[in-house]
Order: sequence, then C-alpha cells, then structure tokens
Amino acid sequence: MTATVIAGTGSYVPERVMTNAELERMVDTSDEWIVARTGIRERRIAAADQATSDLGLAAARNALAAAGMRAEELELILVATATPDMSFPATACLIQAQLGALGAAAFDLSAACSGFIYGLSVADAFIRSGAYRNVLVIGAETMSRVVDWEDRATCVLFGDGAGAVVLKATDAEPRAGASGLIHTDIHSDGAAWDYICVPGGGSRIPPGHAMVDERAQFLRMRGNETFKVAVRNMERAARKVIDQAGVKADDLSLVVPHQANARILNAISDRLGLAERQLVMNLDRYGNTSAASIPIALDEAARAGRVAAGDLVLLLAFGSGLTWGATLLRW
Ligand code: UT7
Repeated sequence: MTATVIAGTGSYVPERVMTNAELERMVDTSDEWIVARTGIRERRIAAADQATSDLGLAAARNALAAAGMRAEELELILVATATPDMSFPATACLIQAQLGALGAAAFDLSAACSGFIYGLSVADAFIRSGAYRNVLVIGAETMSRVVDWEDRATCVLFGDGAGAVVLKATDAEPRAGASGLIHTDIHSDGAAWDYICVPGGGSRIPPGHAMVDERAQFLRMRGNETFKVAVRNMERAARKVIDQAGVKADDLSLVVPHQANARILNAISDRLGLAERQLVMNLDRYGNTSAASIPIALDEAARAGRVAAGDLVLLLAFGSGLTWGATLLRW
C-alpha cells in the first residue's frame, strides 16, 4: 500500500531580530511579562522587500536540497499561509515560478496556525490515492504585516518565518516500522471564528471600505479563551492519533507542537506526561510564526540530530478557525 514519507526538511527565518527590549519601547510591556506569560524572548521580522513567498522559497530550496530532489520533479506544491503575498494568485504559484517547478499543481491552504498539519493531511491523501508521488508542503508567514503594533496583547506574540517538507510516496508500511506518516487527524470549529481573526481586507470589509473600525486589517485575538481551548484540543488530537496507532506517549521520541506559548506547550506536556527531552520548543527565538512554526521546529530538531530513523514523532497544531490537528509519523 502507498504511504507518505518525509524525504527532506528545510526552513528559513529573516535576519532581523526584534527583542522584547525593542517592544518595551513601542508599547506598555516588559521583558519580564513577555517571558513569564509566553516564553518568548525575540522574534524575526521580514525585511521591507520580503514577502511570504520569499521566505517560503528559501525554506523550499533547503528542503529540496535535503531531499536531494530537483524542483522539476515536484508534482504538487502546497503553501499553508494566513498571510499570502496577495489575494490571488496563490503564494504557491509564485513560489512554483521561482523554483522552476513548472510541471506541478500549486495552491494555498487557509487554516492559519494549523495550516501545516492541514497541508500534510491533504498531501498525504493525494499521495495515498496515487495522484502524486513528489509533493512540497510549505508553511510560510509574515505575521508582522497583520499584527497591530499598538496592541500589546498581541504584538509581542508573533514573528515571521517559513518551513517546508518534501514528501515522497513509499510502498513500505510506516505502521510496520518503515518511515512515513502513520495518522493525521484534523478538526475545525467555525462557531469560534472570532477567537482569532483579521476581520478586514477580504470581501466582508474590503480595502478602502468605510470601516467602522480603522484597525480591522489587523489581527485580533481573545487570548484567554483561545489558551484554554488550545490545550484541551491539542491534547485530544494527540491522544487520538497515538491511540489509533496503539502506542503510548512514552514511545514518542519527539513532540513538535505549534509554538504559540510556552505555558500552552508545558500544559500539554504535563497532561500527556512527556519528559523534557521529548518536547521541541523554539518559541523563545521566533515567537508564534503561525503555519511556519511546526516545520521550522521540525527542521531545527532534525538538523540538530534529535531524531533518528524509526523514531516516532508527533506534530500538534492549533489556530484560527478554530482549527486543530495532529500527525503521527515514523522518522
Ligand atoms: O497561534 C494561535 C493560537 N494562539 C494561542 O494559542 C494564544 C493563546 N493565548 C495566550 O497565549 C495568552 O492568553 C496570552 C499570552 C495572549 C495572554 O496571556 P494571559 O496570561 O492570558 O494574559 P491576559 O490576557 O489574561 O492578561 C493579563 C494581564 C492584563 O492586565 P489586567 O487586566 O490583569 O490588568 C493584560 O492587560 O496582562 C496584561 N497584558 C500585558 N501586560 C504587559 C496583556 N498583554 C500584555 C503585555 N505586557 N504584552
């Protein structure tokens, strides 16, 4: 039976570092508050001439190099992003052109911070169906362009960056010990759409609209409520995929959660009974990079030698929509 294997990972973050000290000069906040409440110490900010496709392109090139695959071999390019270069065409098409992957289908996927897990799920379905054998999934964001830099409750949280994986079809079975995706599980609850949103800029409040609120083009979040649902739903998704596979939390070599808040990650870790060595956390350096956070953290962990062939890895996501999900894979 056909299954999906990760053939290579890559990531890219912009050079410019924005520290908490810099934010102290912009809004009424402090390094102490940000570190204690979120775990974030600094984040990366895209240069004025960099858009989401530029970050995604760099991550994609790194992933293709790691996989030893040429761009022309790609059959599908999926970009998970909440901050596309433009409404259309898709950021995936812009990256396709830069890569020279002209034989591929390319489209964007909108699931905010859960976008990468949604992307893996879609790619896995295409590969298992036999439609494609070589797929590139990218999570890329320039959150700095939608953050309200006057709102201390949100502007301290987010950063820019991109991560990517090259996926290939395999005929070996991951459940029987071969490398590959074992289970993906994705969920949504649209009734809670307003927990995290950018209300303006689309067809409801288009650009130039006589807005009631001139800040409608910026991100809004009901942080407290989001926090609680995030912990509950990521734990539930994690348990579902590990139960389905008949494994225990102890068996996981690595858990790579969406990097939203260190307190959320620690709460999930406590609930699942994880040891510190199992949890990947890099939000101190990048903040919340939305759809990019899981592939960046996965790529860093892989390059640091934190995973070996045969290891079980769990990816966990939560974000606007609301959306959430999990992927269990064998490295
Ligand atoms: O990626 C998508 C998923 N997103 C998430 O999962 C985010 C989930 N939420 C969170 O991470 C947290 O709720 C936040 C980090 C956003 C906020 O942390 P919190 O512990 O829930 O704080 P809070 O919103 O309850 O605010 C506590 C206090 C308030 O002051 P008062 O009302 O107690 O006087 C806020 O005004 O902290 C204040 N505050 C700040 N103070 C200094 C809020 N932001 C800041 C700030 N600096 N940046």
